[in-house]
Amino acid sequence: MSLQKTINHNALPKHIAIIMDGNGRWAEERKQDRLFGHFAGVESVRDIVEGAAELGINYLTLYAFSTENWDRPKSEVDGLMELLVDTIKKEVPTLNKNNIRLHVIGDTDMLPENARKQLFSAVNETALNTGLNLNMALSYSSRWEIVSAVQKIVKDVRLGKITETEITQPLFSKYLTTGDFPDPELMIRTSGEYRISNFLLFQMAYTEFYFTDILWPDFRKQNLYEAILDYQNRERRFGKTTKQILDNTQNM
Ligand code: IPE
Ligand code: IPE
Ligand code: MG
Repeated sequence: MSLQKTINHNALPKHIAIIMDGNGRWAEERKQDRLFGHFAGVESVRDIVEGAAELGINYLTLYAFSTENWDRPKSEVDGLMELLVDTIKKEVPTLNKNNIRLHVIGDTDMLPENARKQLFSAVNETALNTGLNLNMALSYSSRWEIVSAVQKIVKDVRLGKITETEITQPLFSKYLTTGDFPDPELMIRTSGEYRISNFLLFQMAYTEFYFTDILWPDFRKQNLYEAILDYQNRERRFGKTTKQILDNTQNM
């Protein structure tokens, strides 16, 4: 039986977040420039987006570029930005064909003007799609996001739009860049690194983490299925006891 068929389609995560890591090492293993790895990584993005859409996942957040990544050598940053923006632009017809809606989260003010324009036109061109929500985290960092949320909240309190007592956890979530998305149930990081690297810190309070040594350019649908199966074999307790969780499922 194929791995896809062993997945329980009634217990899929609604939101999967992925730290796509290891492009540079993949290229270095082949004695190539790091950008070669980023190019190869695009193929994985295509395959995983297609795989997630086929399964019926509602939200897929891909960490493509962190605010810290701006500090990489200029040639890598320029090459990577061009690749990301070009790819997104070129993929619009495929996204539309597959009913995929594109979102971009991150500090896009840091992007070159032209790149920003192209990105937002791609976002607009897919805005009516109702299938998979594909969130590209670009120039994203969670600490930036949290501080920006605080600034917006303070502003709205000053303007009288909200009061201090209305600031609850759900309201705070709404002020994050992922305000319209549920928290991810599953986070995957490739390349054998065991850290979060400033990704969705607030949103991942109870997310299941899945780490694999596979480098991003080698990551394919099959590997996504493996991660989902692993997730489906876990018990999510949210602070409760196993007995409480079991009793609750029996009562359902
Ligand atoms: C992930 O691959 C892509 C980005 C961070 C932009 P890396 O470029 O970090 O690859 P490694 O970790 O150096 O191998
Ligand atoms: C995290 O990868 C960011 C992205 C995948 C976009 P990095 O390669 O930048 O993270 P660190 O530096 O290893 O923590
Ligand atoms: Mg890396």
